[in-house]
Amino acid sequence: MSARMKIPAEGFVYSRAGRGSELRCERVPLTEIAARIGTPTFVYSKRAIEERVRRLRRLIPDCAIYFAAKACGNIHVLRLLGKAGCGADIVSGGELFRAGLAGISPKKIVFSGVGKTQGEILEALKAGIHLFNVESLGELLTIERIAYREGIKTKAALRINPNIHPKTHPHISTGLRGNKFGLSRGELEEVYRVIPRLRRVRVCGLSCHIGSQITSAEPLEQAWRKLLEETARAPFDATHLDLGGGLGISYAGEKTLSLERYASLIRRVFRGKNFALGIEPGRAILGPTAILLTSAVSVKKRGAGPRGASASSGRSFLVVDAAMNDLARPALYGAVHPIFAVERAARAHQKRFDVVGPVCESADAFESGALLAEPSPGSLFAISNCGAYAMSMSSQYNARPRAAEVLVEGARYRVIRERETYADLVERELL
Ligand code: LLP
Repeated sequence: MSARMKIPAEGFVYSRAGRGSELRCERVPLTEIAARIGTPTFVYSKRAIEERVRRLRRLIPDCAIYFAAKACGNIHVLRLLGKAGCGADIVSGGELFRAGLAGISPKKIVFSGVGKTQGEILEALKAGIHLFNVESLGELLTIERIAYREGIKTKAALRINPNIHPKTHPHISTGLRGNKFGLSRGELEEVYRVIPRLRRVRVCGLSCHIGSQITSAEPLEQAWRKLLEETARAPFDATHLDLGGGLGISYAGEKTLSLERYASLIRRVFRGKNFALGIEPGRAILGPTAILLTSAVSVKKRGAGPRGASASSGRSFLVVDAAMNDLARPALYGAVHPIFAVERAARAHQKRFDVVGPVCESADAFESGALLAEPSPGSLFAISNCGAYAMSMSSQYNARPRAAEVLVEGARYRVIRERETYADLVERELL
C-alpha cells in the first residue's frame, strides 16, 4: 500500500464525497472544520485518544500510566487522559498548573526533569504530588530542606543514567553517560550515603528514561534490567519502579514496537517481581491521534533552468499556511510527517511537491517530494501524526499567532484552544 492510501492519524478516514473522497475525523469532514475554524488547526480524535489509553491499560493493568504532559499540555486533552485513568509526568511548575486545571489528582503526578527550581519544588510539595524523580544529590537535599521547612513529607525515586544508547535522534537521547540526565554510578553511591539522614523525603524507588522515539525493544529492555540490578544494590526498599517513556510511533511507515509488544516486554522483564510499576509515555499515546490541518497558499513552479537538471529541476514548492512555528519537529530533528490531501478526486494526475511553510528559513519544510494532485490556493491538507510535540512545541516565530486546537467526538467537535490573535502576540509587551 502506498503512503497515500493510508490515513494521516488514528480516528481519521477517507469517505466517499461526490466522485472522489474526503478526509474526516471520526464523522466530521475536515472541510467543515477548515470552513468554520480556519487553518492552521490541530484536530484531535477523542476516540483515538481514549482507545490508545484503553489498549495500554488493558495490556498492563497493574502499571500506572503517567502521561508526559510535555507532549501535549492542552487542559482538555489532559482532562480526557485523566478520565481515562492516566496520571501525569510533569517537568515544570507550568505543567503542574496545567495538570491541576485538568483535574488530574496530585497523587497521580510524578515530577521529572533535570532542573527543578526551588519554587517549583515548593509548589509540588504543597500540591502533594506522588513523587519526585530525583536527578542529583543537590536536588534531593533541596527537596529535603524545603519539605523540612514546610513540615511536609514526600517520596522520591532516583533516576539512574544507565548509559544505554536508545538508537534514536541524538537530540532526544537521554540515557547516555554524556547526557545531562540521571545519576551516574558514582553519584548514586553519594546519594545512598545520604539517604539515612533524610527526615522528610522517603526514597522509595528508581526510575530511568533513556530517550524518545525508541523503535526497538533492546535499549528499553537493557535499561529496565539495569533498573532491576540497581534495586538489588540499593540500600533502601525500592518498591517503586518508573520505566520512563520513550516508545516510538511509525511516522512514515518505519517499523516500531506496537503497544502490544511494548507491554509484553514490560510483562516479561518484570514478571514475578513485586514492584509498583509506572511508565511515562507521551508520544505513544497521543502522537497518532491528531493532524495539523493546513491550506495551500501558493504553488511555486521551479523550472529546470538553463543548464538542465538540478536536484530540484521540474519540482514545485507547495507553500502551505502551517509552518515550523506550528510544527517544529521537521526543522529540529529532520522528522517526517507525511502530508495527505483532504479532498481526493478519483484518478487525479499526481505530481511531486516539496511542501513548505511560509517562515523565512529553509528549514521550514514539511515533506520533500510529496505525491499530490495539483493543488490550488485553499486546497486542504492534513499533516500526519501531530498529536505529540506539535502544538506543545509551537511558537509565535515570524509573529505568527498560534494555531487553534479542535477536539472531535463522533459527529461533533469543539474548539479546545482558540486561534491566537495579533493582540495575543503583543499582550505582554508594554506598549
Ligand atoms: N519522561 C521523561 C523524563 C521525558 O523526558 C520524556 C520526554 C518522556 C517521559 C516522554 O517521552 P515519550 O514517551 O514522549 O517519548 N520533542 C521531541 C521529544 C522530546 C522528548 C523529551 N522527553 C520530539 O518531538 O521528538
